[in-house]
Amino acid sequence: MHLSKGDFVWVDTGAGVPIGAQVKVTDTGQLQLIDDEGKEHKITKRMEGGLRPMHPTSVQGVDDMIRLGDLNEAGLLRNLLVRHKDGHIYTYTGSILVAVNPYQLLPLYTADHVHQYTDRRLGELPPHVFAIADSCFFKMRRNRRNQCCVISGESGAGKTESTKLMLQFLAAVSGQHSWIEQQILEANPILEAFGNAKTIRNDNSSRFGKYIDINFTKGGAIEGARIEQYLLEKSRVCRQAPEERNYHVFYYMLMGMPAEQKKILSLGTAAEYNYLTMGKCTSCEGRDDVKEYAHFRSALKILMFGENDTWEICKLLAAILHIGNINFEGTIVNNLEGCEILASMHFDMVCQLLEVDPKVLEKSLTQRSFMTIRESVSKVLTSAQALDGRDAFVKSFSLKLSLGS
Ligand SMILES: Nc1ncnc2c1ncn2[C@@H]1O[C@H](COP(=O)(O)OP(=O)(O)O)[C@@H](O)[C@H]1O
Ligand SMILES: [Mg+2]
Repeated sequence: MHLSKGDFVWVDTGAGVPIGAQVKVTDTGQLQLIDDEGKEHKITKRMEGGLRPMHPTSVQGVDDMIRLGDLNEAGLLRNLLVRHKDGHIYTYTGSILVAVNPYQLLPLYTADHVHQYTDRRLGELPPHVFAIADSCFFKMRRNRRNQCCVISGESGAGKTESTKLMLQFLAAVSGQHSWIEQQILEANPILEAFGNAKTIRNDNSSRFGKYIDINFTKGGAIEGARIEQYLLEKSRVCRQAPEERNYHVFYYMLMGMPAEQKKILSLGTAAEYNYLTMGKCTSCEGRDDVKEYAHFRSALKILMFGENDTWEICKLLAAILHIGNINFEGTIVNNLEGCEILASMHFDMVCQLLEVDPKVLEKSLTQRSFMTIRESVSKVLTSAQALDGRDAFVKSFSLKLSLGS
């Protein structure tokens, strides 16, 4: 292959996929390659055989990757890289939108943008998540058929944010500015409080799958929505990996709830609860739990949760925290290993908050009963078994609280 200054080529650096590189001339007049990562490569005979010329469409990048001349993995990746370097986070592949997480708030989602992208053909304007939402909305009205949009990607890729942006667009163009649109948008802070948590990959990681159905009138106004959730990560309620948190709502409540209410629920700070400290991380950088609590409360109001409902939810959340602090002490009775609940205000609070008889709760936490053909038999649990039973109990009722619905 003949190389001259300024040429672009694909070079195999052994990383699995070739990367782009440009031919430069050194001070001593020799040709060398500078790859996309900024690394220099001497051009050896052996290497020259492995170089491939780069198609012109890959040099500057294209906004629809269908147009790439080098339509392979290297071509797709370089195209996204080149565009990202230029500040373009969105790229099409036909009618598919690829979004690269910018990790910063870009001025791309203003009312002006909503206006610009309304009623335009896909591809007419630079790639944008609003264009996808608009295309769905337009096709639904024109063909009178349901539309479906799948948002996928690895954790932290930006699925949740993209979903919210699409909902915002649809709410804006549906144009009624009605109560129902506001309710759909405000369902998110509630779902996220109960279903999102800080993980090592994403400070606001959704720990559940979500299917959102939005219903429109014939005229294109939103008239209702249904959000289905599935596969909530139950284990997080009892355990968190290092540097991860439990679901946001617990920290919101402990930071944001007025002192007199916390006192009624006997709540302290996050550091005091086993269920909130397994990851050794109780705060989340950039997330103001006090402010989020206020937002969560106002969202509940918009979704018509009464004061009483909200208080009952707080009672259940507090009960979960107190349950996590119940401990057991091993005993030997009649040569059988068993256990007892260690007396604490936590156990008393659980009974009070769940409105259950302490004797009944104690029995169900320290004994196991099962049915034989004839009768129900009880067996004592060891303290380790009782701890597992305690956590299983919390997981099952967290799911009922589900966390939310
Ligand atoms: N379009 C975007 N603009 C600005 N920040 C974004 C955007 N998409 C994602 N982010 C940032 O990345 C974080 C993770 O995104 P998220 O949508 O929660 O990922 P996923 O749901 O795919 O796990 C968000 O909390 C936000 O800070
Ligand atoms: Mg998510």
